[in-house]
Amino acid sequence: MCGIVGYVGERNAAPILMKGLEKLEYRGYDSAGIAVHDGKNVNIYKAKGRLKVLEERYPPSEVAGVLGIGHTRWATHGEPSELNSHPHVSGRIAVVHNGIIENYQRLKPWLEEKGFNFISETDTEVAAHLVNHFYEGNLLRALKKAVALLEGSFALGVLSADYPDTLVAVRKASPLIVGIGDNENFIASDIPAILEHTRKVYLLDDGDMVVLKKNDVRLYNSLGERIRKEIFHVTWDADMAEKGGWAHFMVKEINETPKVLHDTLLPRIDENGRFSLSEISGFAAMAGGLRRLFIIGCGTAYNAAMMGKYFIERTARIPVEVDYASEFRYRKPLIGRGDACIVISQSGETADTLAAMREAKKRGARVVAITNVVGSSVAREADEVFYTWAGPEIAVASTKAYSAQLMALFIIGTELAFRVGGIDEEQYSAMLSALIKIPEQVQRVLDNVARIQQVAAERFNAKNVFYIGRGMDCPLSMESALKLKEICYTHAEAFAAGELKHGPLALLERGTLVVSLMTEEALIDKTISNMIECRTRSAYILGIAMEGNIKAVETSDECIMIPRTMDCFAPMLAAVAAQLFAYYVAVQKGLDVDKPRNLAKSVTVE
Ligand code: G6P
Repeated sequence: MCGIVGYVGERNAAPILMKGLEKLEYRGYDSAGIAVHDGKNVNIYKAKGRLKVLEERYPPSEVAGVLGIGHTRWATHGEPSELNSHPHVSGRIAVVHNGIIENYQRLKPWLEEKGFNFISETDTEVAAHLVNHFYEGNLLRALKKAVALLEGSFALGVLSADYPDTLVAVRKASPLIVGIGDNENFIASDIPAILEHTRKVYLLDDGDMVVLKKNDVRLYNSLGERIRKEIFHVTWDADMAEKGGWAHFMVKEINETPKVLHDTLLPRIDENGRFSLSEISGFAAMAGGLRRLFIIGCGTAYNAAMMGKYFIERTARIPVEVDYASEFRYRKPLIGRGDACIVISQSGETADTLAAMREAKKRGARVVAITNVVGSSVAREADEVFYTWAGPEIAVASTKAYSAQLMALFIIGTELAFRVGGIDEEQYSAMLSALIKIPEQVQRVLDNVARIQQVAAERFNAKNVFYIGRGMDCPLSMESALKLKEICYTHAEAFAAGELKHGPLALLERGTLVVSLMTEEALIDKTISNMIECRTRSAYILGIAMEGNIKAVETSDECIMIPRTMDCFAPMLAAVAAQLFAYYVAVQKGLDVDKPRNLAKSVTVE
C-alpha cells in the first residue's frame, strides 16, 4: 500500500510533503521519509514509526528546498525500519514507491552483477538502481526504460540531484494523481494529500508518466509519447477530509451517515417519485433476462455484498453469488455472457477487487461498480458506475461508506425486483417510502449514543465476542464483528445463530459477550432460543433490536433499540449502533482508532 506525495514549486517543500503524508497515513504508517532537493543536493530524512516521529526529528520548517518527494509506508518487503523506509537512493537518484515489484528477486542479482550495492530488504531499491542504471542525464528516458523491466504494481516518484526543478513519476496499477497549482505542481497517491493546495487534478492511467516543473506539467503514455488529458475538478473541499472537532475520523464519519445516505439516495429518485437507474442503464436493461448476478468485494465491501445477496434474492428472486475478490480472481469462476457482476469497493483501488473485476469482464459479464471514489481504477474500468456519495473516508475501518454501499444495493435491488415482478407496485412504494425515512432514523440511532457508550464502558474488557443473527442479521453480524476485530483487537466472530449449536457453543464461557442482532422479526423466536442457549451457559447478551420488540428486551441483559423500519432495511440502522459500540470499546481500551495496527485502508497489493 503506502502513500506517496511530491512537490515542485516556490514554497518550502518539506512542510507541504509532511502535511500531504499526514493525509495519506491511512495507507500505511509504520515508517516515513522525504527527499528534498536543496538546490545542490538531494537530502534524505527518514524515521521508523508514525509520521510525527519524522516531524519531531526533522522539523519541516528547518528543511530547505522547493522540490521533494515523500512516503508513508505499510511494510510488504522488509520489516518496518529506517533502512527499509523510503525514499531509496541510488547514486544521484531518489525514489518513492507504492505497490509491489514482483520480479525484484530476478532483477536484483542482475543489478548486483552490474555493481549496484543493496542495503535494504525492499523491492523498491531495485527500482532506484534500475533508474540509476539507465540514467544518462535524461530522467524521463531512464524511468521509461526502468518501467519496461519492472513487473507488478507501482506508482513511483523520482528525483535526480542533477535537476533541482524537476520531478518525474509513473503509474502502473497503483493509484497516482497529479495536482495542478499556480507556480507549483504535485503528485500524490490520493486527492486529500493535495486538496489544501488545489482542486485541479489529472487522473493518470496505467503506464502514464509525468514530468513536473513548477510551471509545466507534461504527460506521456508508456511509449513516451506526449498525451493530453482533461482536468478533473474535485468537488469536495479540504474540510471534508479534516476531523472538524471530532476526536477521531471514525466517529466523525459515523456521524456523517445520515447525510451520506441522503446524498446516495435522493439523486436516484426521479421526478415521478421512482428509482432511476439511469447511471447503470445497461445493467438495468438486462434485468428481465439476467441469468445470475455476482457480487464481489473485500473486507467490509464483501460483507455489504453478502447483504446484497440476501436482499436481492429475497425480493427479485434472481440467483446471486457472492465471492471474496481474492478467491474469485483465481477460482476460474463460472461467469459469462448473460451474467452481471457488481463490484463493490470504497476506494476503487483494491488490487484483488480490480483483478476480480477484470476476470469477470474477460469472461463476458457486464460489470457494474459500486464505488466511492470518482475516477478510481474500478470506476474507470467498469462498464457502468453507481457512486456512493459518502465523501472521503479516512478512518481505516469503514463505516459511512459501508452504509452507503448498503443503500446503493437496496436501491438497485428494489428497482430490479420491481422490473422482474418480484414485488408489486404497493410493495415498491412502501419500500421507497421506508428508504426515504432511513437517514432521519439513523440520526436517532446517533442521538442514542450515551446508551451505547455506557454498554461499551461496561463490556470493553470482553475477551471473546460472538455476533449472532439470522437472515440479514447474519451478514450484519459479519460486518459488526469485523469492526471489533479491526479497531479493538478483540477476538470477535460472527455466527449464523442457528449454527451455534453445531460447534461454536463449545467456545462459550462465563463472561463471553454475545451480541444478538434481531432486526429479522419474522425469525425472532428462533434467534431468542439461541440466545437462551447462550444465557444458560453464562454468556452476557447484548441485543440490538427495533423499538417495541419486547421479546428482545426480555431475553437480553442489555438491549440497544433502533427505530422501527421494514425488516429488510433495519440493518442500515443496526449497523450504525454496532459501529458506535466498536468505536467506544476501542476508545475505552485507549487504542488508535483511526489507524489500527497492521492494517491499511487502501490495499493496493495482493
Ligand atoms: C482494507 C480495508 C477495509 C476495506 C477493504 C476493501 O482491508 O482495511 O476496511 O473494507 O480493504 O476496501 P475497498 O476500498 O475495496 O472497499
